[in-house]
Amino acid sequence: MLFKQQVLLRQKLFVLGSLAIGSLLYLVARVGSLDRLQPLCPIDGRFGPRGQDEVPLRALQFKRGLLNEFRKGNATKEQIRLHNLVQQLPKAIIIGVRKGGTRALLEMLNLHPAVVKASQEIHFFDNDENYAKGIEWYRKKMPFSYPHQITIEKSPAYFITEEVPERIYKMNSSIKLLIIVREPTTRAISDYTQVLEGKERKNKTYYKFEKLAIDPNTCEVNTKYKAVRTSIYTKHLERWLKYFPIEQFHIVDGDRLITEPLPELQLVEKFLNLPPRISQYNLYFNATRGFYCLRFNIVFNKCLAGSKGRIHPEVDTSVITKLRKFFHPFNQKFYQITGRTFNWP
Ligand code: A3P
Repeated sequence: MLFKQQVLLRQKLFVLGSLAIGSLLYLVARVGSLDRLQPLCPIDGRFGPRGQDEVPLRALQFKRGLLNEFRKGNATKEQIRLHNLVQQLPKAIIIGVRKGGTRALLEMLNLHPAVVKASQEIHFFDNDENYAKGIEWYRKKMPFSYPHQITIEKSPAYFITEEVPERIYKMNSSIKLLIIVREPTTRAISDYTQVLEGKERKNKTYYKFEKLAIDPNTCEVNTKYKAVRTSIYTKHLERWLKYFPIEQFHIVDGDRLITEPLPELQLVEKFLNLPPRISQYNLYFNATRGFYCLRFNIVFNKCLAGSKGRIHPEVDTSVITKLRKFFHPFNQKFYQITGRTFNWP
């Protein structure tokens, strides 16, 4: 008798359990399909204060799903027409600085539902051959987006290339320009590390950093070495200021973006007049990588490629000291011009 009751009880529990799991699965599937129907809110003044018309995670899922398909070229013309998708010229460009964290910045900004990134570096303004193809060629390189979204591209070579400021000015004189910088000596070593890795991959030998950064004849800093020149931020910025007022630039602290990305991203949101949508939820520290990675939603997250965050070679401390002393006056000028001060030595 007792045995029979136990069997019955187990059967009931099994049925109830199955029902509960079934309902749960149905709900997950239903919410998922609703997510894809959720329209994106427009940006700027059309967004209310945070909380009132919060762009939910759903919007991000929607964006990741459908828009990614469009970007991959999997969308039909009909879908593009139906969703009113367009290829827009960028409203903001990450112009540099190489090894400052340009990829991390672009990927992190792309977490924002109103931002769409151009995945590849387009090199339109710094490459004469590309530039000669015209602005329509450039526009066609842009990803599909909703009209209310803003497109951002990054090509760090823009910052140091002579002709670029004028060319960008001709396209859009009110464009917003983002510059991400790191402590200049660290950036120069990072730059060297990238080139070194390229040489090693081709089984080539390369000079030591010390040999390139210091002129052996004068024992002074070698200003002909590109990695050194790129780190003289103020020199490059001054060329840009001939075309754009300082208000059109925003300086991102690349060292802080590594250790504490959210406040830096919030400053960029403000600069771009975007409602604050990137949150701590979207960024998680991955101890294995030693960097923050990106979380778009429950299922989709990613870390940057292994080529970001390389181990730098050991550099002679006297060379580091010499470089830091060399960059010091340029850094002071950079702080003065930009109004953003860093704790660089
Ligand atoms: P290192 O390789 O010297 O560490 P860029 O994208 O402009 O080439 O910059 C590369 C740098 O981005 C890397 O330099 C790395 O330190 C930095 N970075 C910032 N945030 C990162 C992140 N979340 N993941 C990986 N690298 C990041």
